Amino acid sequence: MDQVQWNVIDEYLARSLLPADATLDAALRASAEAGLPNINVAPNQGKLLHLLAKLRGARRILEVGTLGGYSTIWLARALPTNGQLISLEANKEYAQVARANLDRAGVSGVASIMVGAAAHTLEKFVADNVEPFDMIFLDVDKKSYPEYLRLSLQLSRVGTLIVGDNVIRRGRIADLASTDPDVAGLHEFFRLLGTNPRLDSTAVQTVGTKGWDGFSMSIVTS
Ligand code: DHB
Ligand code: MG
Repeated sequence: MDQVQWNVIDEYLARSLLPADATLDAALRASAEAGLPNINVAPNQGKLLHLLAKLRGARRILEVGTLGGYSTIWLARALPTNGQLISLEANKEYAQVARANLDRAGVSGVASIMVGAAAHTLEKFVADNVEPFDMIFLDVDKKSYPEYLRLSLQLSRVGTLIVGDNVIRRGRIADLASTDPDVAGLHEFFRLLGTNPRLDSTAVQTVGTKGWDGFSMSIVTS
């Protein structure tokens, strides 16, 4: 199997399962026009995140890494009317594009973006004792996943779902001696997922329009 076939199947799945959605298409178009990197989750992956949030019954969602807000829209749409999503973005130009996308999608009432270094914002949440989140989606620089996980655990309760994007990196994590900081960060991330007694975890590989990658999924158990 190769990328061309993965694309054909992803298009088939989207056609079969995902209704045409002008708002989401517009968000991707606006992101591309503003020059954002084309590293949004795929539509069927966005729907997976949406379904996971619904399965979790999430009322409070934290997203680390907004980019243009594409996954943010999918997640926000899973919230009840009294729900809240906070998405963290380091790049203020990206955040501006994302805010326009959230407005256009009509989810600005439940979803907001905080600009700044994610670790700093998360530390402030911990210090401020913010209400724990029901779901946390990590989708930012992979070298810092261990630190974001450590902070996420301090913002979790029993039952919090923590999802990590891009944990396979076209198989590059197979190189245990890699000196790539992102790969080394993912190795430490997996070590923490596997050994932290508060976490019950798995990970799955994915192929599709976004190539060969994968998600980690963890439930906070204590
Ligand atoms: C990259 C980052 C992402 O969050 C993603 O979804 C895909 C790729 C990257 O840095 O290459
Ligand atoms: Mg990603």
